[in-house]
Amino acid sequence: PDLEKWVDEVPRPGVAEPSGTKDGRPRYEITMGEVEQKLHRDLPATTVWGYDGQFPGPTIEAEQGEPIYVRWTNDLPDEHLLPEDTTIHSDLIPYDTPGVRTVTHLHGGNVESESDGHAQAWFTRDFQETGPEFEKKDYYYVNDQPPATLWYHDHSLGITRLNVYAGLAGFYLLRNDHERSLGLPEGEYEIPLVLQDRSFEEDGSLFYPTAISDEKGGSDESHPDPSIVPQFYGDTAVVNGKAWPRLSVEPRSYRFRLLNGSNSRYYSLKFRRYDESSGETGGDGPSFVQIGNDGGLLSTPVEIGDRLEVGAGQRADVVVDFSESAGETLLLHNDAPAQYRGKTGLGDDDIVPLPEIMLVDVNEAGDSQDATELPDELTRVPDIPIDSVDNERYLTLNGGATDDYSRQLYLLGTAEEPDGLKIDAPVTEEPALGDTEIWSFANRSGMSHPMHLHLVHFQMVGRQSIGDYDPDEDELDLEALEAPKPYERGWNDVITVDPGEIVHVIVHFGGHDGLFNDQTGTYMWHCHMLEHEDHDMMRPFTVLPNDG
Ligand code: C2O
Ligand code: CU
Repeated sequence: PDLEKWVDEVPRPGVAEPSGTKDGRPRYEITMGEVEQKLHRDLPATTVWGYDGQFPGPTIEAEQGEPIYVRWTNDLPDEHLLPEDTTIHSDLIPYDTPGVRTVTHLHGGNVESESDGHAQAWFTRDFQETGPEFEKKDYYYVNDQPPATLWYHDHSLGITRLNVYAGLAGFYLLRNDHERSLGLPEGEYEIPLVLQDRSFEEDGSLFYPTAISDEKGGSDESHPDPSIVPQFYGDTAVVNGKAWPRLSVEPRSYRFRLLNGSNSRYYSLKFRRYDESSGETGGDGPSFVQIGNDGGLLSTPVEIGDRLEVGAGQRADVVVDFSESAGETLLLHNDAPAQYRGKTGLGDDDIVPLPEIMLVDVNEAGDSQDATELPDELTRVPDIPIDSVDNERYLTLNGGATDDYSRQLYLLGTAEEPDGLKIDAPVTEEPALGDTEIWSFANRSGMSHPMHLHLVHFQMVGRQSIGDYDPDEDELDLEALEAPKPYERGWNDVITVDPGEIVHVIVHFGGHDGLFNDQTGTYMWHCHMLEHEDHDMMRPFTVLPNDG
């Protein structure tokens, strides 16, 4: 459908309320269900899956040092809303079991492994069927980490792309007193924004491709039907569950908690002046001042001079000062090509990008206060010392393999198995609790991948060309590395690795930012493009107890 842009207001996600207490702590019960929701004025209501009847799900407001329990319950229908490809992990997934498999992961949470939302800890409606890694119904979130923009989303093995596309994602905002003392824009001036892309049928239903030919042209007889697609790019921008919406703001500073909740798409964002009658963009609008990353505040605010890159799963906590833009209309503009290759740009097989995301109407100057003065120092972000490293791992990102149906298969590998390992191969990454490691992601494929680790937050050390570092021969030469980009500073749990490059990150297994956590057990690391995660860029890692 040809949807008129900028007709709906950006909604603010609801806020979750505890339904009671457990062991003296707030206990939430959040139910996944199928609902009809208006995603655009001119579209019939769309059938989506929401948490507590909402897409995106209600925001969980949490406080550092105050643990909560959440029981995620599944009240979804028997049949999946979208076509499942039963060839994906068919040896690990009982596709003939009735009901929809779900499991919720708190992305960015330093969480005990039983509550982490392991891909095989899935459960169906009323916990009738459970996966082999299922351990408990009430997840425990200790919230012992710096304040940050976290999010929760479905993580069920082999169908994460479909469950999240259907709507299963929401914000989880962790706060503390120190952050409140900084005078950042708050209340109505702090807005979580989840950027997603979707495609729709005329009747309002969600479109998700069921064959590789749907998005690429030219199908292959050997593919199953329905088949997973290598990537998904929707043709419609959806922000907080509204297609191409507009946001009206006062001429003052706002804090936006940006989340890329898309399946595959990258965003490279900037505000541009916009003439609504002609649809033309003019000069640049106000810039983003980044104050936080995936895992919490940066040490100092960083003005993003050019564009802000946000890969799938990433968050950018930004302040934007609209005080000089009174009366203007601004476009949140994206120039990332769909098949993202970072600085190497567009390829021939590129699918049309999604340049227009959201409109911002800045009201005429009124009685509103001026721009917020941001403090010079936001928090202390101590560098993880390189000389504390216990172990270095060389990890490969590969696009060269094909599966039994001659479809491209993305795999993660190690120095010993550089061509890649599937999810059920024995665990190869086994840090001990308290260890510091360097993980070097070497991208041998033709596109960028946003690489994610559960449990921890890491620091980006730098990047270099893949040919310039051989783990068997070379010492890591810090001088030879390209420095992190401004938006890669601080604590990350997702990092972009462009084709032909190695990104080195340093990670401490046992807490960050001076906060200790003693979580051991098995977690996941994976590409956060959900089609890649499902087919097959996901591996476990295990934090071993430290008996030393
Ligand atoms: Cu946001 Cu393992 O994922
Ligand atoms: Cu990927």
